[in-house]
Amino acid sequence: MAFVRKIAFGGAFAALMSTTSVGYAAEQVEVLHWWTSGGEAAALNVLKEDLAKQGVEWLDMPVAGGGGEAAMTALRARVTAGNPPTAVQMLGFDIKDWAAEGALGNLDDVATAEGWDAVVPAALQNFSKYDGHWVAAPVNVHSTNWVWINKAALDAAGGKAPETWDELVAMLDKMKENGITPLAHGGQPWQDATIFDAVVLSMGGDFYKKAMIDLDPAALDSPEMVEVFNRMTKLRSYVDDNFSGRDWNLASAMVINGEAGMQMMGDWAKGEFLKAGKVPGTDFVCIRFPGTQGSVTFNSDQFAMFNVTAEEAKAAQAKMASSVMNPTFQSAFNVVKGSVPARTDVPNDAFDDCGKKGMADLAEANTAGTLYGSMAHGHAAPAAVKNALYDVVTAQFNGEYDAATAAKELATAVAGAQ
Ligand code: GAL
Repeated sequence: MAFVRKIAFGGAFAALMSTTSVGYAAEQVEVLHWWTSGGEAAALNVLKEDLAKQGVEWLDMPVAGGGGEAAMTALRARVTAGNPPTAVQMLGFDIKDWAAEGALGNLDDVATAEGWDAVVPAALQNFSKYDGHWVAAPVNVHSTNWVWINKAALDAAGGKAPETWDELVAMLDKMKENGITPLAHGGQPWQDATIFDAVVLSMGGDFYKKAMIDLDPAALDSPEMVEVFNRMTKLRSYVDDNFSGRDWNLASAMVINGEAGMQMMGDWAKGEFLKAGKVPGTDFVCIRFPGTQGSVTFNSDQFAMFNVTAEEAKAAQAKMASSVMNPTFQSAFNVVKGSVPARTDVPNDAFDDCGKKGMADLAEANTAGTLYGSMAHGHAAPAAVKNALYDVVTAQFNGEYDAATAAKELATAVAGAQ
């Protein structure tokens, strides 16, 4: 009996050890993100596969919801419970806020070893570093002042891409006459705010900076801002009756399939066109929002690394950060994502014409001083101010305020959120 027990015990122990040894991944990262659309998931797979090759296991924590609001709410709950994810997709000022709370780890060793300071633009380092230390690894640079136009709809409406507000309105009117939805849109605050970003920028880069970055009350409640809200009302007249609550990628699909003429959205929308097998110049056209040519409103997706104690977790974070910053990865990921590399030393060979334009526009704006953080995507002001702006923009877009009242409400809301 003892013999049997011994083998049985031995067998059970061996089985336990073998299960444990097979099941235990020396390095793993739990990643909270909101990349759940077709194009986003395709891009994320590039990172997952890259880490798998290095033996780092990916524990996925997707939280659906464009723009990341739901993801940030889920993150707060996890941290409050004392159980933060290893790495989190995060934007701009949210990184600063978490770093100020002392919640983020330190990536200086890998950043120094790999020379990140020399290749990441200052506009991004402003958010990747806190108190001079690297706390996040930037994956990309998206820009938000784009318009994505269905090529067949463009040709049917005269064939010339609009360069001014008046030409944009004329094109939208022509598309309406042609019987399609002129403007595909999802009625969610972050999407309304994304269009608002572009309309504010179309009034001039200096005005955008004064209003959205400096939060100057004299700019927030100004004749220019009244005109912005009048233009938002005009754009509201071109969306379809079912726009409210629509997810951004479903609006992209309306332009992809020709049901709608255009979408005003960040260049993550291009990831949806590419996933659908569409080709820039043939199936769709990418232009800067009319009146914003020469300027860029940007947002960068970064992986913020949370404080962890286990050495394996720290090693996995460093490996993930290193993978994210690898130039080969930066090209492969951004080609699919619709964004451009966060590093300035990545060649543009693999990018399509819209990607090449995005990289050229970013370099030009960086040099000209016309590169601005997107308010809608957390790169102009802290979350409390961003959310106050969201509320007024969405209320006005849905007819709760006339333009003059909206401008006054904007100044009041921002003052109250600071
Ligand atoms: C942005 C983010 C993009 C994309 C988009 C739609 O804030 O930077 O990567 O996810 O939201 O959800």
